[in-house]
Amino acid sequence: TIPEVVLNDGYKLPKVGLGTYQLRGGMGYQQIISAIKDGYRSIDSATNYDNEGIVGKAIRDSGVPRDQIFVSSKLPGKYHHYDDALNAITESLARMGLDYFDLYLIHWPLPKRKLYVEAWQALITAQKLGLIKSIGVSNFEPEHLDRIIQETGVTPSVNQIEIHPYWVNDERVQENAKRGIVTEAWSPLGRGSSALSEPIVVKLAEKYQKNPGQILLRWHLQRGIVPLPKSTNLNHQRANLDVFDFELTGDEVKAINTLNRQDGRIDGQDPNEYEEFE
Ligand code: A2P
Repeated sequence: TIPEVVLNDGYKLPKVGLGTYQLRGGMGYQQIISAIKDGYRSIDSATNYDNEGIVGKAIRDSGVPRDQIFVSSKLPGKYHHYDDALNAITESLARMGLDYFDLYLIHWPLPKRKLYVEAWQALITAQKLGLIKSIGVSNFEPEHLDRIIQETGVTPSVNQIEIHPYWVNDERVQENAKRGIVTEAWSPLGRGSSALSEPIVVKLAEKYQKNPGQILLRWHLQRGIVPLPKSTNLNHQRANLDVFDFELTGDEVKAINTLNRQDGRIDGQDPNEYEEFE
């Protein structure tokens, strides 16, 4: 079984989940089914990934009871108006063939449109209606978090942001924690980039008899972050869950932090100019 973290609303989130960006079609369906059979109990989708149909079908066909899988999806930016957001959530559920989400996130704040508070109010309503258990956000800066908390009195359970060795993001993780928000990491392995072949990472992999991906996932976990690695490779999928039987030292975690080069997809941009990437 996968260890879990308790969210600020009392629900439990598995400490590693499967990212599903770009998992689509028959292949995607098979890969998600096999991930669930291999032990994944948290699956992260989004309306914009255009895969809610196969994700939901894989969950329904997996043979694992619905209440044992933590299912997440995300609201597209074009549906931030209150009524549109509520519709989008019910349509998202219909595509999945499910009657509730464990977690639903506002995918991007898109602050220029000034509608994310309205979208947040819709998530609060959907939660009251029983359509969503936990509500959260993604790619929110501290100022966006404070705005929705101040205007509604409801704190998100999760903020999912980009984190990997080239974009360590210590400050945002601390800002989330300060507000009682659990941080999830998208692209936790740096999108399969050269972070996996950094000498320090390879050296630690040899030391612990693990693969570089497992070292990076351990680095996230020890920083209190819930990583959502995605993989189309069954061996990688399996390996990415097998990260609870070893521990890096504090110095090793710090050594990986030094790879930071502020190389994030949204770094350096005016938050008002954020685009919706996916
Ligand atoms: P593959 O599908 O061949 O496993 P991210 O989650 O940061 O976006 O990274 C995903 C990328 O990392 C994919 O290209 C995936 O390739 C690769 N990947 C996933 N898990 C591992 C692993 N344990 N070791 C090496 N590469 C991995």
